[in-house]
Formats: sequence, C-alpha cells, structure tokens
Amino acid sequence: MSAVLRLKGVSRSFGGVQAVSDMSFSVERGDMIGLIGPNGAGKTTIFNLITGVYDVTAGDIEYEGKNINALKTYEVISLGIARTFQNLRIFSASSVLENVMTAAQQHHRYGFFEALSHIGRWRAMERATRSESMELLERVGLADRANQAAGTLPYGLQRRLEIARAISLRPTLLLLDEPAAGMNAEEVGNLNGLIVDIHRDFNLTIVLIEHHMDVIMEICHRIVCMNFGAKIGEGSPDEIRSHPDVLKAYLGEDD
Ligand SMILES: Nc1ncnc2c1ncn2[C@@H]1O[C@H](COP(=O)(O)OP(=O)(O)O)[C@@H](O)[C@H]1O
Ligand SMILES: [Mg+2]
Repeated sequence: MSAVLRLKGVSRSFGGVQAVSDMSFSVERGDMIGLIGPNGAGKTTIFNLITGVYDVTAGDIEYEGKNINALKTYEVISLGIARTFQNLRIFSASSVLENVMTAAQQHHRYGFFEALSHIGRWRAMERATRSESMELLERVGLADRANQAAGTLPYGLQRRLEIARAISLRPTLLLLDEPAAGMNAEEVGNLNGLIVDIHRDFNLTIVLIEHHMDVIMEICHRIVCMNFGAKIGEGSPDEIRSHPDVLKAYLGEDD
C-alpha cells in the first residue's frame, strides 16, 4: 500500500510550549484515520503543520512521497489536501450556495478551469461552478437550503456546509477538525453517516480529529491517540478502547 501522508518525527514548539513532539504516523490511500486526544494534545497543530499554516520545528511531512515541509497553504491545497476548521469558517451573510461556489472557484483557479478563464470564458466558468456546487449541496443534503443565508442554518448544517466547501476543492486527502463539536447524539449519528458516504463517493482519504473517543470508534479503521503533543497509542478501535495509556489520558477529563 502506498502512503498518502507520512509524518516522521514531527515537532513544533511555540515559545516554551511543545505543542507537537516527535509525532510519526502514516495514512494509506483510502484510509479513514481518527486522531484523538484530550484538549490541548496537539491535534489541531498537526493539521496546521500539514497544511502549511505553521512550519515544523523538526521532522518531515510527506504527501504522496514528496516532502511538503516548506509549502504554503495554497500550494498544499493545490496538491489535493483540504480541511475544515474546529471553529467554523463560513460566510454567515452569504447564501449556502455562494459559500460553496467561493470555495469551488479556488479549486478551479488551479485546475481545468484555469484554461477557460485565460481565454475569457468567465460565464462558462461561473455556470459550471454553480451547477457543480448545487450538485455538491445535493450530496450533503443541503440543496433545499441553497439560497438561505449560511449563518441562519442550524449549527449541525453549518458543519455540513463546511464539509461541502472542503470537498468542492476536489481533495484526495480530507482533514476534518472536530466536525462533531457541539452536536447532539442524533446530529453526530447523521454526521458520521455523511462522512462514511463522502469517503466512499469521493474516493477520499480522511483524517478525522475528535476529542471524544466514542464518536469515531464506529467509522474509523485506525486511530492515533496523542497527549501532550506526543503519540501515546495507535491501533484499531478495539485496541484503542482498551489501551491503558489512552484510558489514562482520558481519565479525569470531564466535559
Ligand atoms: N499559535 C500558537 N501559539 C502558541 N501556542 C499554541 C499555538 N497553537 C497551539 N498552541 C498550543 O499548543 C498546544 C496544542 O494545541 P492544539 O493543537 O490546538 O490542541 P488540540 O487541538 O489537541 O486541542 C496547546 O497547549 C496550545 O495552547
Ligand atoms: Mg483542536
């Protein structure tokens, strides 16, 4: 199997804080990996390092066998890596459809539509982006909300919209940062269903950050658990569920 993503001894500190410490793991094509750990464990920092928001202090990050340590965020996106954010980043006043179209245009700038735009076919590009974005909204169950202001969507649907925006970039690797945060049990069930569907339908490789272990046990093939910046366990959901260090990390956590 070929690794899509590989972290080798990756570290990052902020002043005196060792946010990520000697992290190594790899993600195979088609994987659905869970990245779990208590608050402050360094999970989001891992995504920020992969996507070029921060530079590593030490170590290597490889995507499809190529070192991407020095790449800028837009370069990482153009390679086929998309992410969602722990804190939602949608345009509240714009419509649901406009939110997806704005993201999709970013993709087109780097792809097939670049050629079209160069020869001045803006209208064709706009039309294509619109129909493609509507199709995506249908896939994530938001088509009937297309013209509604995104900020007026219920929270769970805003999370869905953010996922649609990420998929509109046509990624190979999708990084989801706590997509279930703030959801009730029913919403989490629906969201997990959506993640399983898009993973299959879009041939995605997914890394899914989650704070609560139980949420992703059902859908992830393999789970990496970190605490205080370092990996403390890795394995199947069953292995992680009974892993002494993982249990210890979660003990005494109450929220
Ligand atoms: N930009 C930053 N500046 C300073 N400290 C940071 C920064 N980003 C993250 N950290 C620190 O790194 C640690 C890990 O944070 P984070 O990756 O957000 O954890 P998690 O996502 O697992 O909750 C925390 O102690 C956090 O305060
Ligand atoms: Mg986080």
